[in-house]
Amino acid sequence: MTDIAPLRDFIRAMTRMAEEGASETRWLTEGAALLRGLVADDAWLPDAFAEPGPRYRQYLLHCDPLERFCVVSFVWGPGQRTPIHNHTVWGLVGMLRGEEVSTEMRPGVPMRPGVPMRPGQVDRLRQGEVVAVSADTYDIHVVENALPDRASISIHVYGGNIGAIIRSVFDPETGAQKRFVSGYDNAAVPNLWDRSREMAAA
Ligand SMILES: [Fe+2]
Repeated sequence: MTDIAPLRDFIRAMTRMAEEGASETRWLTEGAALLRGLVADDAWLPDAFAEPGPRYRQYLLHCDPLERFCVVSFVWGPGQRTPIHNHTVWGLVGMLRGEEVSTEMRPGVPMRPGVPMRPGQVDRLRQGEVVAVSADTYDIHVVENALPDRASISIHVYGGNIGAIIRSVFDPETGAQKRFVSGYDNAAVPNLWDRSREMAAA
C-alpha cells in the first residue's frame, strides 16, 4: 500500500493558500514550489490512479469543496496526446514519471476562420519539473507523452474544478473552436484520511 501522506500534506498547504485568498501570482510561485516538492517523491500515487488506458486518462485526486482548486493525475500511454485545448483558469503541471511535451498553439495568420493554427512555445517536462499554464504564459496547447515505449504521469493543479469547466477544443487545420467539458475517468477519489497506521505507530 502506498503512503498517501505527501498528497494529503500538499492538499492541506494548497487549502491554506485558498483560505488566504491567494492571488494567481502566489499560486504560480508558492503553489509551484509545493508541487515541485510533491513530484520529487514518486511513492505516494496509488496504482489505481496510475493506470494507462486506450486514450490518456485523467484521474481526479482531490477537488477543493469550494472548487477553488483541484488536483488531477494525468496518465499518458505511449503515443497518446490531448486534443488542442484551453483551460480558462491557471494551471500547474508537475512531472511525476516519464516525460511529456506541451506545445503552445496560436491562431493562424491571417487570423480568420479556416487558417491552420501555428505551434508556439514548446516545453519538454522531465521528471521533477513544474510548468504553468496561465494568461501570462499560454492557455491553448496540446500535450503528449514524449516517451515512445512507456507511460508518463503528470500531476496537474488548476484554479477550479477543471473537469466541470466549460472549455474549448480547437481544430488544428481551421482553428474552429468546439465546446469541451473534460470530466474525469474515475468515479472515486483516493482515501486521504485513513491515518490508522500512523496513529498505531505513535
Ligand atoms: Fe492542458
